[in-house]
Amino acid sequence: MRPVDYDDRLHRGYAAGRALSDAQRAAWARAFAARLPAARPLRGLDLGSGTGRFTPLLAAEFGGPVTGVEPSRRMRAQAVAHAAHPRVAYVPGRAEALPLPDASADFGLSFLVWHHVRDRPAAARELHRVLRPGGTLLLRTELTDRLPDLWYIDAFPRGREILAALYEPLSAVRGTFEAAGWEWGSVAEVALPPAGTRAEALARLRTRAFSVFEHMPEADIEAGFAELERRVAAAPGAPAAPGTVLTFRRP
Ligand SMILES: C[S@@+](CC[C@H](N)C(=O)[O-])C[C@H]1O[C@@H](n2cnc3c(N)ncnc32)[C@H](O)[C@@H]1O
Repeated sequence: MRPVDYDDRLHRGYAAGRALSDAQRAAWARAFAARLPAARPLRGLDLGSGTGRFTPLLAAEFGGPVTGVEPSRRMRAQAVAHAAHPRVAYVPGRAEALPLPDASADFGLSFLVWHHVRDRPAAARELHRVLRPGGTLLLRTELTDRLPDLWYIDAFPRGREILAALYEPLSAVRGTFEAAGWEWGSVAEVALPPAGTRAEALARLRTRAFSVFEHMPEADIEAGFAELERRVAAAPGAPAAPGTVLTFRRP
């Protein structure tokens, strides 16, 4: 798949289209805490921090400084303006060459970033360098062998196929990290509360703040939204899909 640059278009609707409810934020905070050591403070790295959806939460929950590393100038600017925290710093950089000293973080979070990283072996080595021995990496990503049943995806022609092409199977992700010296931890589906009705979810989708749309022709996107309007009218309910999280340990 061609690379997606969040400075082009995705930065525009991201904050509105990908906003989390308080209940979803709390579910993620619990999921992260369950996978990290009980000691406080913990120094964190939020890799691909975007608009800072999670960065202040990590500082508040785990009590230490958190560095958000983000290549997109426009995503970073929103984080600086709207997701400030006294213990958070947002810095430019990419996973493949992290602007951080060796062993400077106790944990790392990479939330829906891994599929955008071009040189994943280099990124896995860099994460190994900047996390301290004993550190934990939380990798939120989709996996081709565990694709979520997204309520909207099959309304778009080739939607499921495009989604699958963005990701790798668990064995490939695990292999990249193990080759870089990481110890395998676990894979789990985190249950999340729904974020409002289907109509509200459709309004968020219409911001097109989801990179899967960057790989679809305009006509297919329009056809998909027309189909979704029909489905929402027929079944307004509240969709929810779990989020897959992988855990690795730095020996
Ligand atoms: C789907 S957004 C996720 C942002 C944030 N983690 C969140 O959950 O809201 C993906 C982010 O990864 C960033 N990104 C893309 N390539 C990257 C790379 N090589 N290293 C670090 N971040 C990258 C993008 O600029 C974008 O902000």
